[in-house]
Amino acid sequence: MIKPHGSETLNPLYVADDARRAELLKEAENLPSILISSAAAASAVMLGSGYFNPLSGYMNIAEATSVAENMALPDGLFWPTPVMNIVKAEQIAEVVKNAKRIALLDPNVEGNPPIAVMDVEAIETLSDRQREALIDKVFRTTDREHPGVATFASLGDQVISGPIQVLNYSYFRTDFPDTFRTAIEIREEIVQMGWNKVVAFQTRNPMHRAHEELCKIALKEVGADGILIHMLLGKLKPGDIPADVRNAAIRKMVELYFPENTVLITGYGFDMLYAGPREALLHAVFRQNCGCTHLIVGRDHAGVGPYYGAFDAQTIFDEIPETALEIEIFRGDHTVWCNKCNKIMMMRDCPHEPEDYLFLSGTKVREMLSEGEMLPPEFSHPEVAEILMAYYQSEAAEA
Ligand code: ADX
Repeated sequence: MIKPHGSETLNPLYVADDARRAELLKEAENLPSILISSAAAASAVMLGSGYFNPLSGYMNIAEATSVAENMALPDGLFWPTPVMNIVKAEQIAEVVKNAKRIALLDPNVEGNPPIAVMDVEAIETLSDRQREALIDKVFRTTDREHPGVATFASLGDQVISGPIQVLNYSYFRTDFPDTFRTAIEIREEIVQMGWNKVVAFQTRNPMHRAHEELCKIALKEVGADGILIHMLLGKLKPGDIPADVRNAAIRKMVELYFPENTVLITGYGFDMLYAGPREALLHAVFRQNCGCTHLIVGRDHAGVGPYYGAFDAQTIFDEIPETALEIEIFRGDHTVWCNKCNKIMMMRDCPHEPEDYLFLSGTKVREMLSEGEMLPPEFSHPEVAEILMAYYQSEAAEA
């Protein structure tokens, strides 16, 4: 099986031994504690579930800067995005300032239970210049209208770095018991399926017919045994579709339109960065960690608004050292219904013109569904569209 990133075996930071975890939970009750951001809690879940192998915790400013500038940690390990625990100065109580060991409290679970314990190596202040440089490198813009930039810029200026031990998977295991999976669990499922070549499909949206066809084309062209549909379960920007609705829509599509035993439907607990190309690299790292041999990167992968070129998230893979990753990228062209071919086509395989294609913007799709108008069957299967329509109509009724 494909090796994890940066080490021979996967070393998730979740403390799997029940007795040891109980001890740490007890210890956490008496440690100085700090309420962390949703972004840092999501990183703890990724570290805990082995997706961020071989990292041992949160980066300090020098490490984050090295990652932002060189896409590598100071020791040379390829890593594309900073993994940081940043809080505001007023969040750091006096007892935390001198503590060697602290508990990290989860902002996303009622009662803010500890999600991890941390050995504090440093608490540093991020200067405005350092923050802007990180943002500019990672997001390729410093525009505060960019949702990922806005989130990062709002975190504060105190960077708490050091190794962590993870105590739970936040709300992901309880809220998505059938879908949330750790990297180890996915590796095990791949072995159980008897698959050798596995293509991962990253998604934060429901899947329409273009996505379905993209997966099927990749499966065929790669000659893979199966596809891992791997959906983001963490926080999104306002207006994006919640994970439970996407999950239901994707499960319906797979049930009705994919051959049996060719798909694993799974999810991971991370907040969306909307960092386009850099996030695509991160996506590749953590799909390698969960045992996939290929990752699909299509049009405007992990993008938002006008910030990235449609295929920037593919070309960035040409800029990294050849030895950086073992996972391979399936580069998908724009996939769309063609009236002349009478089916979904990848544009590079289709001889026809833009006027032959059925384009529907996300805004238009939202409008139609909110008003109870069915999507064209060329765009979305009716069984999938019905699930989305029910969601939009319940939203409209509440508003
Ligand atoms: S993402 O932020 O998770 O990338 P989304 O769920 O919309 O967003 O896309 C999932 C994957 O499908 C990405 O690799 C994206 O590039 C690809 N994709 C989405 N729509 C199309 C399309 N019409 N043509 C080609 N690729 C697409």
